[in-house]
Amino acid sequence: MTATRNQKLLAWVQEVAGMCKPDDIVWCDGSPAEYDQMTNSLVKGGTFIRLNDEIRPNSFYCRSDPADVARVEEFTFICSENKDDAGPTNNWADAKEMKAKLRGLYDGCMQGRTMYVIPYSMGPIGSPIAKIGVEITDSAYVVVNMHIMARMGSQVLEVLGDSEDFVRGIHSVGAPLTDSNVQDVPWPCNASHKYITHYPETREIWSYGSGYGGNALLGKKCHALRIASVQARDEGWLAEHMLILKITSPEGEAKHIAAAFPSACGKTNLAMLEPTISGWKVETVGDDICWMKFGTDGRLHAINPEAGFFGVAPGTRMESNPNAIRTLAANSIFTNCAITPDGDVWWEEMTPEEPELVFDWLRRPWTPSCGRKAAHPNARFTTPARQCPVIAEEWEDPAGVPIDAILFGGRRATTIPLATEARNWNHGTFLGAVMSSEMTAAAAGTVGKLRRDPMAMLPFCGYHMGDYFAHWVKIGKSADASKLPKIFYVNWFRKNAEEKWLWPGFGDNSRVLKWVFERCQGVAAAKESAFGLVPTPESLDLKGLNITAEHLEVLLNADENALRGEIKDMRQHFAKFGDKMPKELVDELNTLEARLEKA
Ligand code: OXD
Ligand code: MN
Repeated sequence: MTATRNQKLLAWVQEVAGMCKPDDIVWCDGSPAEYDQMTNSLVKGGTFIRLNDEIRPNSFYCRSDPADVARVEEFTFICSENKDDAGPTNNWADAKEMKAKLRGLYDGCMQGRTMYVIPYSMGPIGSPIAKIGVEITDSAYVVVNMHIMARMGSQVLEVLGDSEDFVRGIHSVGAPLTDSNVQDVPWPCNASHKYITHYPETREIWSYGSGYGGNALLGKKCHALRIASVQARDEGWLAEHMLILKITSPEGEAKHIAAAFPSACGKTNLAMLEPTISGWKVETVGDDICWMKFGTDGRLHAINPEAGFFGVAPGTRMESNPNAIRTLAANSIFTNCAITPDGDVWWEEMTPEEPELVFDWLRRPWTPSCGRKAAHPNARFTTPARQCPVIAEEWEDPAGVPIDAILFGGRRATTIPLATEARNWNHGTFLGAVMSSEMTAAAAGTVGKLRRDPMAMLPFCGYHMGDYFAHWVKIGKSADASKLPKIFYVNWFRKNAEEKWLWPGFGDNSRVLKWVFERCQGVAAAKESAFGLVPTPESLDLKGLNITAEHLEVLLNADENALRGEIKDMRQHFAKFGDKMPKELVDELNTLEARLEKA
């Protein structure tokens, strides 16, 4: 049944149907009944296995095609009208040519399949910060994941009304069922063609060939970051790859912190950490994406545009993230983990002891001695945010939460101290702009290689990164400096010469959050370094932590020699952005170099 009278939407859906030629069209209502019916049919079709209801109620296990396991950055395109608007960090393609190519691929691509229309809201429905999108997809897996990851269905259509203001997303797995005698595969995708394409001016997303995560759940990376970053630039706000957390002191004072880390650097863990310092509380607002707009009070207010967590499973355990483990106790979907003989999921490090036998993500028996990983390193859980035991009461506040501090960070075994406070907004923007990290498995690429990932937005900024930096500078200029969040750069991943982690991380990161909190209050001490303001050893709460003075010194040290050696790389990094590179950030780099020369 068609649930809208929005003529523009109806016409677009008809146009897409005419191109993709599905067997039928379903308008998703977002109801629990729809979720149940679709998960049941995914079980019947062999895509899902229902997990043991006594262990993990109403949860499902899924294995992807081995060739479709992560975001495909090399096939992700920003098809802006001008090539220069995509900038040097994005693949660009001419919109007309790309659309012509995709129209060829989309022609008849949904034959034998159902075309689902998913109206969704990124952000609480009706929030002034939220945005509406409609994803058309031929993947039932996408529909049920979108049920968890976004607010979707009839209510969104009601709010949309006759408005044309929605992001149009087309997604196909690119695997038509032209022969009704041939059975569908559990994870349809296209082995030869994958395209994740964005049209920033027309706010469109056309995705083809992959069913996995950010390639297919279009509300997430494609809409809430790539398209939204362009909307944010045009409208004067920020769409960022950041978690949002609330921290409350023993005295009951609360602050909100947003933090950007590259994919698979522990954003989900930080967002819901259990503090190891007594009396402090951390609660979650979001774990991946943050939209910030100025409120009437002149402060930046943030919403989490998502409704669920699509987290990396391997490594998630009671010790690293007890609240994630509790969140995904039920009503969750697990993709590319391993499955146990009694019908539960398992992944590396999930349990203190490895199980004797599981079936790995490639369907093979796996034992601890077999020498392989049981779960794919980018195996994921999809789980409702509202189930998180430490979800903050204001997580769905349509007005958002006021942001007190912004953290940047990455995986750096050397050079970068545990925490650094920027001297001001432009200096903080500079630290974000030169942010770098050792690569992980969230995207196809070389694991462990260092890459500069400005504000963790390298794969997600929908326009020229130089213009993006300029937008950050402009946001700073447009505001009352005293009302802007303070900016910090953190690094939990410093190692000693023997390659051992110097900082325990996880719950103990609350000690750094406390320092950040107290810097915002103006009470904690800090000392100058060439890189920025670092904690004095006494200003960090290290009670109960077994850390030697010698290790602490390394941890809090901005390694001047190493930084001097990086200046050239930072200059080359900035040079990529040509004359779009804002002078304010080049000045910051010159200042850093001058400080290092003096040091
Ligand atoms: C994610 C990512 O899935 O950043 O959140 O890759
Ligand atoms: Mn992410």
